[in-house]
Amino acid sequence: MTGHGTIEPFDAVDVIRAKRDGGAVPEKALRWMVDAYTRGYVSDAQMASFAMAIFQRGMERDEIRVLTDAMIASGERMSFAALGKKTVDKHSTGGVGDKITLPLAPLVASFGVAVPQLSGRGLGHTGGTLDKLESIPGWRAALSNEEMFAQMQGDVGAVICAAGSGLAPADKKLYALRDVTGTVEAIPLIASSIMSKKIAEGTDALVLDVKFGSGAFMQDIDRARELARTMVALGTDSGVATTALLTDMNVPLGFAIGNANEVRESVEILAGGGPADVRELTIALAQEMLALAGKPDADVEAALDDGRAMDSWKAMIRAQGGDPDAALPTARETHVVTAQTDGVVTRMDALPFGIAAWRLGAGRARAEDPVIFEAGIDLHAKPGDRVDAGQPLFTLSAADAARFPRALEALEGSWALGEHAPEAGPIVRERITA
Ligand code: URA
Repeated sequence: MTGHGTIEPFDAVDVIRAKRDGGAVPEKALRWMVDAYTRGYVSDAQMASFAMAIFQRGMERDEIRVLTDAMIASGERMSFAALGKKTVDKHSTGGVGDKITLPLAPLVASFGVAVPQLSGRGLGHTGGTLDKLESIPGWRAALSNEEMFAQMQGDVGAVICAAGSGLAPADKKLYALRDVTGTVEAIPLIASSIMSKKIAEGTDALVLDVKFGSGAFMQDIDRARELARTMVALGTDSGVATTALLTDMNVPLGFAIGNANEVRESVEILAGGGPADVRELTIALAQEMLALAGKPDADVEAALDDGRAMDSWKAMIRAQGGDPDAALPTARETHVVTAQTDGVVTRMDALPFGIAAWRLGAGRARAEDPVIFEAGIDLHAKPGDRVDAGQPLFTLSAADAARFPRALEALEGSWALGEHAPEAGPIVRERITA
């Protein structure tokens, strides 16, 4: 077949058929498929069909490695080798109330390690780190590679910024296609998508927070484990020291779901306080990151409690134009949901709380929509807490009271009061290493 005046070495239909019929796609054909799609020679329809075939048939480890490599090769590769210090990054597969990156990056940087945290914006019910930070007056997400490098090399050490469009453009195109063709939740596709960006970024080490439960991509721990193992193998094979933690995402993390309120909660963590679950996960991930950076004995709890992590946070926010002491936006309209009876909170499902916060305006339905920084949900009780009738359970915040009915609809049946506290397990369930 010919196109654009050149002779193409493969035919997309043959590649699709090979995967459709359960075979492994040969390396050269797979690399060509990704490259030809990025160039626009392979159409969206053909790539959607191929993604569905991968979804149905899976991929062998070698195919996933080649797919990841082909997506890396579609764009630029960054290198921090000239920094003269170790770089370590963290990636979360996404959850509800997951603000961990905010306290984690400056906490780890306070030990002299560089943290290149390239982050995204929220889409659907999961929030985005950049949206949260943009609720800080003046803070800027877009940095040039030179600015990013300078911030990591200097005293600040940590940078949280938008990933440039040059990293893994094939993934950008494919992820948008998967989003509208029902092919997001396939392990080979998720693993190659996440790891192509992280490997192209050039970090020395990476800690993955792979979530399972009602607010996560993967509902059950077995699938989350398979995803974690696949990603750890991809990182390790590419020379990135990679560890994963499997963490529980059945209940929202902390008490705040939104943007500005999540920044407030992160600052509480950096001041040595904050909700126990957020602190526990921040400490666990920081210890993993610092161990990979050659500092296994770093006392991360002390850095949260004695102000070093807070100093590092303030420096990081100032370096990107933000005022860490400025007042954050607060909502004009609030709606409080109270307990109808005395009892113990037995359930709060993460997903409906994420959807409700999104409907309040904390998230976006289309990539070009703005978010409302002050919109969201503040929980006043979590599973295991005893409440009296009339006591507030959670407060919804929005810029416009017309948003409340649809948010309340999403929350119907998502929480319950009962007699006995549910069994509480640790947030971190398993650790996966190479
Ligand atoms: N995040 C990504 O970057 N890609 C996926 O496929 C899923 C989550």
